[in-house]
Amino acid sequence: MTAETRTALVTGAASGIGRAIAGGLREAGVRVIGVDLRAGEIVADLGNEAGRAEMAARAAELSGNRLDAVFACAGILGGGADMLSVNYFGAVATLLLLRPFLETSDAPRAVAIGSVAGYNKADEPLIAACLAGDEGGARDMAAGRDALNIYSATKTGLARFCRAQAVLPEWAGRGILLNVVAPGLVETGLNRETFTNEKRRAAVAAMMPCPMQRHAQPEEIASLAHYLGGTGNSFVTGQVIYADGGQEAFQRGAEAI
Ligand code: NAI
Repeated sequence: MTAETRTALVTGAASGIGRAIAGGLREAGVRVIGVDLRAGEIVADLGNEAGRAEMAARAAELSGNRLDAVFACAGILGGGADMLSVNYFGAVATLLLLRPFLETSDAPRAVAIGSVAGYNKADEPLIAACLAGDEGGARDMAAGRDALNIYSATKTGLARFCRAQAVLPEWAGRGILLNVVAPGLVETGLNRETFTNEKRRAAVAAMMPCPMQRHAQPEEIASLAHYLGGTGNSFVTGQVIYADGGQEAFQRGAEAI
């Protein structure tokens, strides 16, 4: 199959990493169906069930029930319980609702965007509520938890969900490869305050030491997503791959393997 014939759906395609993924795909001749809150081929709010259903229905119409790749990028930092609904439940719904459309592709791939935050703070009760599919319960638990706890739980939960799904007969058994790209700090709208507020920049630098001593541009994350979500990847699945300038290896050490 040539790149020209592939169709990919990208959520969060209007900004940052999703936009870089969508842009690179288009340049390579892939047909892209972009999903976002206010712009794109599909305008939908993945933070609620109606929006997720609308996304899947429109994706079916636009793709003729056939996709070659899905990139679940939409996410937020802040907004309390809404982080659970967008980053975890929205991403999981994207993968589960669109997986059947991947079945007829010759080289079906799915990529979710995790984060280095996924290993920082494992709030196990909150992660368990996510993995149990209990959106209401998880949202209730978010009250009284700090934003980083919630954000981290969404990313740990998403990584664990993807690893568990990837090896199942309906994914690996059908040749549908599912991986997670976990970025370090990337210069996008998501964390604009980190780059504009000096106090916050110093706090984040201490929390997220990067051996390469810089932040990433969205295109540097997109290139890994392009590989995992493209025909060049034929045997990598169930993996969480860090694109973080060495942060994860530095913080967790050589033994964390
Ligand atoms: P961004 O803010 O530039 O882009 C996120 C996009 O998602 C926006 O276009 C936004 O409208 C869309 N979106 C948000 N809520 C939505 C909803 N309810 N329904 C549909 N679309 C929605 O942010 P960025 O940085 O590109 O984030 C992309 C992914 O990368 C997110 O999952 C984020 O958690 C993750 N990430 C970002 C890092 C960073 O440093 N920027 C680091 C690690 C992970």
